[in-house]
Amino acid sequence: MVDKANIDNYKQRVIADFNSRTNYDNDLRYRLANPLVELAQLQSGQKILDVATGTGIVAIAAAQIVGNQGKVIGVDISRGMLSQAQQKITVACLQNIELIEADADYLNFNDNSFDVIFCSSAIPWFSDIPGVLQSWYRFLKKGGLVAFSCFAKTAYTTSVVYRTVAQRNGISISNVNEILGKPEKCRQLLQEVGFVDIEIKQEQFGDYISLSDLESWWDINLNNAMGNPLLQVPEKLEQCKVEYIAELEALATDKGIWNDITTFFVLAHK
Ligand SMILES: C[S@@+](CC[C@H](N)C(=O)[O-])C[C@H]1O[C@@H](n2cnc3c(N)ncnc32)[C@H](O)[C@@H]1O
Repeated sequence: MVDKANIDNYKQRVIADFNSRTNYDNDLRYRLANPLVELAQLQSGQKILDVATGTGIVAIAAAQIVGNQGKVIGVDISRGMLSQAQQKITVACLQNIELIEADADYLNFNDNSFDVIFCSSAIPWFSDIPGVLQSWYRFLKKGGLVAFSCFAKTAYTTSVVYRTVAQRNGISISNVNEILGKPEKCRQLLQEVGFVDIEIKQEQFGDYISLSDLESWWDINLNNAMGNPLLQVPEKLEQCKVEYIAELEALATDKGIWNDITTFFVLAHK
């Protein structure tokens, strides 16, 4: 369970950020999550863990395949996201999903207890990614599968430019897609933990952003739990925003600004 007294400021911001996303689901969310379930080739009766389940997109799809002989546990740090998941589970009349409000950095399940562990589009938010992978390795049964997605370090063009501009103005905002941002990095980290039979599929979900949307993307980057350091330096905000808009405008074509969403679907066995 989330220990309210001990969660740090960063986690509080993550929780507030996701609790505020009351209309989370859209077509892109499903397109990013569904391939993991397809690639995992689930079987009836399996026991599944979906880490950072959000609104339960993966957990629900998995529960429909593993059936009542199987079980899915979905964990998430945001109560708001879990409540959206619970509404969908109720509508789908699924009895084989349990939702747990918990921090992925401190999960505590028995060793060798899951056939498959999923994590879709969420790893960048964890504070200790190698530690989380080690815990997944312990929770998996021998031969069990981990299936997660993560983004290339070039992904989300406006956030790349946002960080570059902040850096130039003396404010460092870490790139959360740095640690797993290249296939060879995913492979190396998994091998260090002990995973074998590693497969990585790369897909592009990018699209064009119109110039008129740059302001709202600025707000998204600024208020994102991870983009927050710039808010601590209000005197630099205006200058950073001017540079951000200018740099993105310079990338514009007649279709708009290309927003890279290079995504890796990573599968590995214990
Ligand atoms: C981009 S959403 C992805 C949700 C879902 N997996 C999907 O594919 O739609 C990221 C999720 O990670 C959750 N999250 C972030 N940090 C977490 C942590 N430390 N422990 C558990 N969940 C976390 C957020 O609450 C949010 O639901």
